Amino acid sequence: MNDMVMGAHTGEAGAKDSFTLASGLGTGPVAVDSYISPEFFELERKRVFGRSWLHVGRIDQLPQKDSYFVKEIEICKASVLVTRNEEGKVQAFHNVCSHRGNLVVTDDCGESSRFRCAYHGWTYQSDGSLAGVPDHKNFFDLNKKKCGLTAIATDVWEGWIFVNMQREPEISLKDFLGSYGESFAGVPYGKDHQTLVIEARFDANWKLIMDAFSESYHVPAIHPATLAPGFSHAVHNKYARPLSGQTFGLHCAWSAYGNPEYAPPPNSEVERLACKVDTGGLLGSDFSEEVLQLRAHPAVNPTKEACWSADVTAIFPNFNIDYSTGGYWTHEFWPVAHNKTHWILTIRIPAATSVRHRLQLEHYAARWGEIVLEDVTNCERIQKGLESGAKDVMYLQDGEFMIRHMQETLRKWVNAETVAEAMK
Ligand code: FES
Ligand SMILES: [Fe+2]
Repeated sequence: MNDMVMGAHTGEAGAKDSFTLASGLGTGPVAVDSYISPEFFELERKRVFGRSWLHVGRIDQLPQKDSYFVKEIEICKASVLVTRNEEGKVQAFHNVCSHRGNLVVTDDCGESSRFRCAYHGWTYQSDGSLAGVPDHKNFFDLNKKKCGLTAIATDVWEGWIFVNMQREPEISLKDFLGSYGESFAGVPYGKDHQTLVIEARFDANWKLIMDAFSESYHVPAIHPATLAPGFSHAVHNKYARPLSGQTFGLHCAWSAYGNPEYAPPPNSEVERLACKVDTGGLLGSDFSEEVLQLRAHPAVNPTKEACWSADVTAIFPNFNIDYSTGGYWTHEFWPVAHNKTHWILTIRIPAATSVRHRLQLEHYAARWGEIVLEDVTNCERIQKGLESGAKDVMYLQDGEFMIRHMQETLRKWVNAETVAEAMK
């Protein structure tokens, strides 16, 4: 293996190679108050989540007209009803009845052209308009046109549905995504994917779990048996350094190394049966048409390293789309309180086409389960450590540039009176 293939950034990071410096970020210690302060959390609620475009789902959750799903956004204290109306348009509404404020839809998803509030039976159409009021005549000048569900600004980028909780968003989704949206447009997501969802609620700040997916520095230490063999190499990439790193305004991305010499250990009977020669072990790489198309996209693995396993891309504030050789996955890091988080990992993998493939996917899912337990358990420990007040700052190395970027962006939004000011 030659060093060119390994990529410039796996060498000793000097100024030229530094992701941190190249992104214009600082290099000093970073304050930890945003992980433990209830006051900071209130500012995040109002100024970050209250003004950003937030991912709520994927278009395939609304396969046909009258499909709907409900998304609870706890930090915004909102129950959001996302529908595809008769014309096929995706819309979102507050799931709140115009009569006296009851939640209208109480199941998670389905298909219906009418939503009926259980309290007094007001009904709404999938475009949010009020369709029926029992005993209408006993009201006083009720203007049904004004009593539809309250619309929430909604937009779709590459099949991902976003909402903005401001009554009148200060920024469009296009401008919010900026160069990230342009760079990652047209990434092929593959067809007929099966979805595996892993959810966890735990006692740690939302950014701690996000941080755990923002860098690979921790991989050899925390994931020695699960991830490290595929993400590092004893000689070529001992510390699991990223292959590339980039910021796109509010958003950022890094590419993960994949060990081309990885082979399942001799005692891993199931993995040996299930997996072909893999890059990254966990990631079930192959050279199918789908994978080759993904690899060819200019934004994916931008330095086109051969020893690549996955790209982690972070859309501010709390959504990651990660592209890999064996499918793609997303993270939603939803804050619940300053020390409580609801995390949703959705893995989308190609449907199995053979018994061996099925076994491989089952192994993949089980391996993910192990990895997330390692991360979540660790996050709760960090929360405890930080809440002790022992440390005011953390020290970030170059491979942790995404954490620094997040901290700087977050602080901008928290301090800015307007979105325009936050975007400067
Ligand atoms: S609160 Fe919904 S019908 Fe009365
Ligand atoms: Fe991890």
